[in-house]
Amino acid sequence: MRQTVTCTVNGKTLTLDVDVRASLLEMLRAEGLTGTKQGCGVGECGACTVLVDDMPVDSCLYLSVWADGRAVRTVEGELRPDGGLSPVQQAYVDAGAVQCGFCTPGLIMSSTAFVERHAGKRVSREDIRRGHAGNLCRCTGYGAIVDAVERCLKTKPE
Ligand code: FES
Ligand code: FES
Repeated sequence: MRQTVTCTVNGKTLTLDVDVRASLLEMLRAEGLTGTKQGCGVGECGACTVLVDDMPVDSCLYLSVWADGRAVRTVEGELRPDGGLSPVQQAYVDAGAVQCGFCTPGLIMSSTAFVERHAGKRVSREDIRRGHAGNLCRCTGYGAIVDAVERCLKTKPE
């Protein structure tokens, strides 16, 4: 069975005819938005994290039809209009928080939501770790990722 889904993806309105069994991850990647990765495919690793109405979701578990009427953000949409990196993306680079990079798009989206929710608030490194508990990284040991988020929270938001 198929259904029409209308949603915004990175600010652009899309109307798509989707298989009702398709995940949001499958829908996004079929639209060429391959920045969002499939790791485990069962909600364990967070590589597929995107924001739906500014909340992080595992897009491998989130049906594409649930996105109807909602605003979806992926890592591609975080680039500035001039093609520059977002503050979170730049902080990852500056902190050396990227190694193989497979987890990075999902982590960037979790960090973006975390920074947006906690701007101007006092947060501990433990809070940052807990805020990224749904994202696994097998390379970095997480320290540099926490450093990157700390840098963003200390920087005045744009
Ligand atoms: S691919 Fe979705 S949580 Fe691992
Ligand atoms: S940088 Fe390799 S899994 Fe995170």
